[in-house]
Amino acid sequence: MATQLVKCPTCKNTMTATGEPGEKIILTCPQCNQKGTFTIPEEKSQKTIETNSTTIEVKDLTKSFNHFTAVNNISFTINKGEIFGFLGPNGAGKTTTIKSMLDLIHANTGTIKINGIDVRSHGKEAKKYVGYMPEKVAFYDNLTALQNLRFYAEIKHAPKEECIHLIEEFGLGDTGKKRVGKFSKGMVQRLGMARALLANPPILILDEPSGGLDPRGVVLIRDKILEMKKKGTTIFVSSHILSEIQEICDRVGIINKGILVAQDTVEGLSKKLNLKPQITVTVDSMSTKIENAVKKLPGVTSIKTLGNTLEIICDGAMKAKVILAITNAGGNIQNLQTKEPSLEDVFMRYTEV
Ligand SMILES: Nc1ncnc2c1ncn2[C@@H]1O[C@H](COP(=O)(O)OP(=O)(O)OP(=O)(O)O)[C@@H](O)[C@H]1O
Ligand SMILES: [Mg+2]
Repeated sequence: MATQLVKCPTCKNTMTATGEPGEKIILTCPQCNQKGTFTIPEEKSQKTIETNSTTIEVKDLTKSFNHFTAVNNISFTINKGEIFGFLGPNGAGKTTTIKSMLDLIHANTGTIKINGIDVRSHGKEAKKYVGYMPEKVAFYDNLTALQNLRFYAEIKHAPKEECIHLIEEFGLGDTGKKRVGKFSKGMVQRLGMARALLANPPILILDEPSGGLDPRGVVLIRDKILEMKKKGTTIFVSSHILSEIQEICDRVGIINKGILVAQDTVEGLSKKLNLKPQITVTVDSMSTKIENAVKKLPGVTSIKTLGNTLEIICDGAMKAKVILAITNAGGNIQNLQTKEPSLEDVFMRYTEV
């Protein structure tokens, strides 16, 4: 008998499937009711998944600048094909962590492995797998976008044809002979993402890739990240755009004042903080009977009346019962909205001062 964790392809809820190796199991996601078939892997292939499942491993990493500890003994692992969002307030230690992961600055203590290779002792070999977009993207100012990319393509042994394709893809096709020194911030950022993708790396490390981009640019980068994930790329991305991180990341890590205060799925973190959904119901005529019917339900944490609208915070499992209680108490529902706990709520709670 083997047990496997299975992620729902629709809502990303994690379920368990138990059965004999090779057995087909029909699963129904308890969260979104999506049905699907899952095959328990054969024992041999399961072993292969395990040994190749971690692509980045950071263990007990500490980095200080003189007497100031910017990153304080943090550990995390990133699995193959996963998008891991790295969040934290300004100055929390994200860029310092990323630079240490690539040994661009030397950590005081700790080990970092990329695909099992120690970055400190075998940096060149380990970094072959990585496409990196730094926080401050820099290029040769007196060269064009194409000349710059061709230069990096040569270093990365990427085919030269990739450069034209990437420049077009990132909306820089009409920059022609314009030198990068004359580019706007967003244009340089787009070129930075194009450079990170040269030679189709299996691991992407992106430090705020959407910084300074217009809305179309933000969507472009997000879609590209999702496209790379579909190809099996492992992606580590730091960002301040929480809604976007919530949408695309499998797991997030939150760093605050150099300490990794949380790492899990957004749903897992909401559960740990006991964050609850909010239901906003508008009825055509509010009454004390309706308010009392909701108040006496178990699992209802708070209720606020604003004219004909009720704002209710309750356990996720109670949502349907709340609606039913309002209807049974004579409420004629005009409008109904549910707001699930967001990554913003989680972030605010973990980074409280
Ligand atoms: N070279 C350096 N010398 C001294 N202090 C540094 C150096 N680099 C970073 N720091 C300090 O380390 C802390 C973490 O900085 P870091 O750049 O990692 O933050 P961050 O989380 O990336 O912030 P942001 O969201 O603003 O990019 C800050 O207090 C910063 O001033
Ligand atoms: Mg930074």
